[in-house]
Amino acid sequence: MTVQINPSILSADFARLADEVAQVRNADWLHVDVMDNHFVPNLTLGLPVVESLMKATDTPIDMHLMIEDPDRWAPAYAEAGAGSVTFHVEAATAPIKLARDLRAKGARASMALRPATPIEPYEDLLPELDMLLVMTVEPGFGGQSFLDVMLPKIRRTRQLIAKHGLQMWLQVDGGVSAKTIEMCAEAGADVFVAGSAVFDGTDPGAAVDRLRGLAAG
Ligand code: DX5
Ligand code: ZN
Repeated sequence: MTVQINPSILSADFARLADEVAQVRNADWLHVDVMDNHFVPNLTLGLPVVESLMKATDTPIDMHLMIEDPDRWAPAYAEAGAGSVTFHVEAATAPIKLARDLRAKGARASMALRPATPIEPYEDLLPELDMLLVMTVEPGFGGQSFLDVMLPKIRRTRQLIAKHGLQMWLQVDGGVSAKTIEMCAEAGADVFVAGSAVFDGTDPGAAVDRLRGLAAG
């Protein structure tokens, strides 16, 4: 399984974003967290910042939309050129229509589950998606502790993907670090978001390489 490491710029210095992302050129994707103060109790950034960021980097953009009404707002990120757009199923009204819309606009379509949202009701949606994101913290903030009670859900999700013979990716986000990434990989995740574990140290690029090595086993 190919391992991908996606640094979350939520833990970067927003006033120096271009310099920060230049430090992680070895990343597979840049993970960009959009929060709207409604779906989660925090507010980050939106389309104008994402468009500027795209001009400052060649690394593809992995959007994570923690917002209400993604049916309305998510397609614009695909239109702007984000390579992957993740919406939360808890907030979406018509997730199949939305996933098809994202794909039609040229993005990989991805759906996220909050920690208390089970995967099983969404089994039939899997073929509509290019990635599933299993949150391993309550979304809203960086630097939280990894919820290891999510490991069985990661494992069950990987089994469902295999059962349907799908090639889709399985992303984990929240508390992913050198301490927890091997557990996630062993459970079946192959795309790893890390914010504080990458940007809180002195060498973000080296942190990406280290995480990649641990996840690859
Ligand atoms: C949290 C965000 C994450 C966050 C992860 O809701 O979705 O992407 O940046 O931060 P760490 O890796 O520090 O838990
Ligand atoms: Zn995220």
